[in-house]
Amino acid sequence: MNAPFVARADEVALLDETLDRAGSGMAGAVLLAADAGVGKTRLVQHVAAQATAAGAHVVVTHCVDLGDVGLPYLPFAETLAQLHALAPGVVDEIVAARPALARLMPGQPAAADGSANRLQLFEGLVEVLGAVGTAGHPLLLVVEDVHWADSSSRDVLRFLVSRLRDQHLLLVASYRTDDLHRRHPWRPVAAELARHPRVQRLDLRPFTPDELREFTVAVTGASVPEQSLRRVVDRSEGNAYFAQELLEAGTDADELPWSLAEVLRARLEGLDPEVQQLVRVASVAGRRVDERLLRAAVGD
Ligand SMILES: Nc1ncnc2c1ncn2[C@@H]1O[C@H](COP(=O)(O)OP(=O)(O)O)[C@@H](O)[C@H]1O
Ligand SMILES: [Mg+2]
Repeated sequence: MNAPFVARADEVALLDETLDRAGSGMAGAVLLAADAGVGKTRLVQHVAAQATAAGAHVVVTHCVDLGDVGLPYLPFAETLAQLHALAPGVVDEIVAARPALARLMPGQPAAADGSANRLQLFEGLVEVLGAVGTAGHPLLLVVEDVHWADSSSRDVLRFLVSRLRDQHLLLVASYRTDDLHRRHPWRPVAAELARHPRVQRLDLRPFTPDELREFTVAVTGASVPEQSLRRVVDRSEGNAYFAQELLEAGTDADELPWSLAEVLRARLEGLDPEVQQLVRVASVAGRRVDERLLRAAVGD
């Protein structure tokens, strides 16, 4: 069960304001960045629920970790399917006028991937995204985990941002900062997008100790002794996911904290023995390890 939503008043206010502006015809985008487990998904879920209640259209799609190649346009195929469910007439009309867009629709044959088709597909997507939201009822498009976006989807995001004008549209793209190694392909794209005047970057911080206290009450339904709370603060460094794991591992608040190591070990025990061995070796290398070094060390 999800704990009640806590903290994040400034972030919610910023997203609400940008969505309000989108509702009055000033399209925008927000890049929501944080380490895994800090609370990106929960924040957008919260804002999305409020937005829906206030009459906005909401579409939430996800990028998936499919390695280097990925599935081209995956989050936007999902977007188009959801938009079709929201406004079938609008989508069908635009797809009919821009046949290249049909390749994103379920059960459609893929059109050749020439540059003319690509442009038509990009323009078609921007048109659909611009056609669904109306004054006072903007479209909130959330694309989660764009650090996993394939290169076509990254291109769509860049194109879309370059076309933000008077659409009733807010794009929120979330990504994990801890996953972005130096040559990660999302890095230059994020930097480029962040320079665009319609784009705001929202760096979600880990919880402060006070926020973590509030979170603790939300998770456990009770207040936790100060000393236990301090240990959760230290061990989780304000990361909501880690804090939650630590709190849930302790059945009795007095017995808090179980060390995160124990929580992690319990998880690791569920893995294949070979994977466990890999993790054991990787763990002595610190937070990051070069793949070649790791291969050499495990004798692959
Ligand atoms: N503001 C919040 N209020 C209540 N629970 C939260 C909040 N932020 C995060 N959580 C919880 O912490 C966990 C990790 O958050 P999540 O949004 O999944 O992180 P991320 O998407 O950044 O990896 C989830 O169980 C989530 O429900
Ligand atoms: Mg998430």
